Amino acid sequence: MQNLLDEAIRYALPYVLEGKPASYIPELGKVDPKQLGVAIVSMEGNHWGSGACNSNFTMQSISKVAALMLAVMDRGEQYVFSKVGMEPTGDPFNSIIKLETMKTAKPLNPMINAGAIAVDSLILGEHVEEKLNRLIGFVRRLCHNEKIWFNQEVYQSENATGYRNRALANFMKDAAIIEGEVEAVLELYFKQCSIELNAMDIAMMGAVLAGDGTSPITGEVIIPKSIARLVKTFMVTCGMYDASGEFAVRVGLPAKSGVGGGILATVPGKMGIGVFGPALDSKGNSAGGIKVLEYISRKLDLSIF
Ligand code: DON
Repeated sequence: MQNLLDEAIRYALPYVLEGKPASYIPELGKVDPKQLGVAIVSMEGNHWGSGACNSNFTMQSISKVAALMLAVMDRGEQYVFSKVGMEPTGDPFNSIIKLETMKTAKPLNPMINAGAIAVDSLILGEHVEEKLNRLIGFVRRLCHNEKIWFNQEVYQSENATGYRNRALANFMKDAAIIEGEVEAVLELYFKQCSIELNAMDIAMMGAVLAGDGTSPITGEVIIPKSIARLVKTFMVTCGMYDASGEFAVRVGLPAKSGVGGGILATVPGKMGIGVFGPALDSKGNSAGGIKVLEYISRKLDLSIF
C-alpha cells in the first residue's frame, strides 16, 4: 500500500501545475500550490500516508458532510429535507441562480453553499459558540483527533469577503428557509469551513463512513448507518459539484471536495482516503487530488459502479 501511495503522488504531481489555489478567500491564496499528499485508513484501523499527508489545511466544503450528519441527527431527516432538496445541480458551488428560478427558494442540495448554510441553521445549540463546539466535537470523533480546531485567519478572511454567501443567506432568510439570525448562521458556516486538519484526519473520517458510521479504531458507533448511507449518496451525486458526473466515471467513489484543497473519499466496506493538494481546477476541486484518486481507484479497482 505504501508503494502504491508513493506512486500515486509521483503520477499526479505534474497535474498540480494545471491548477491554482482559491484566491476569492484571500488567506487561502497564501499556501504553497505544489503540495500534494494522500492518506488511507483501512477498516482494521491501519494507516498509510505519502507526500504532504500531515500538512494542515481548512476543510471548507468537506465540512458540509459533517454539518449535514449532525443536523439530521439533531432534527431528523424529514425536517432537514423540508428546508433543503436532494437533487444535484449543474451549477457552480456558490451559484445563486436556482434559488430564484425554481418554484421554491429551497436550495437544491446540502453540498452547495446555499444548502449548507440552510443546514447550518438547523444545528442545535443556544448560540453560535455552542453550535460550533458541538460540530467541532463531532468532527473530532469522526477524525479520531481531539486537537482539531478552526483557523482564525481563514475564518476572518472569509468573513470579510463572503459577499456571495451573505447574498445567499439573506435571500433564503427572506424566503423563510433559514431559521434564526443571518449573521449568526454565517458565523457558524464560515468557522466550520475554517476547521483545520490534515489528509490523515480526512482518511479517518472516510473510514468511519466506509464502516457505515462505526469507528475503525474504537468500534464506537459515531453515526447511525442510515445517516452514513444518506451522506455517501450525496457525495456521489453532488460531492464534486458540477464535476460529480465525470468524477463518478473516472474514480467511482463517494467523495467531497473543499476549496482548501482537500478531498474526502470513502470506499464502502474497505477504507477511507484523504487527499490534499491546494491547486484547484476551474470547478474548485483539487487538480492533483483528483489524479491521485483516479490512480488509486484504477490500480485497486475500487469503483463502486
Ligand atoms: O463558502 C465558500 O465559498 C467556502 N467556504 C467553501 C466552498 C468550497 O469549499 C467549495 N468547494 N469546492
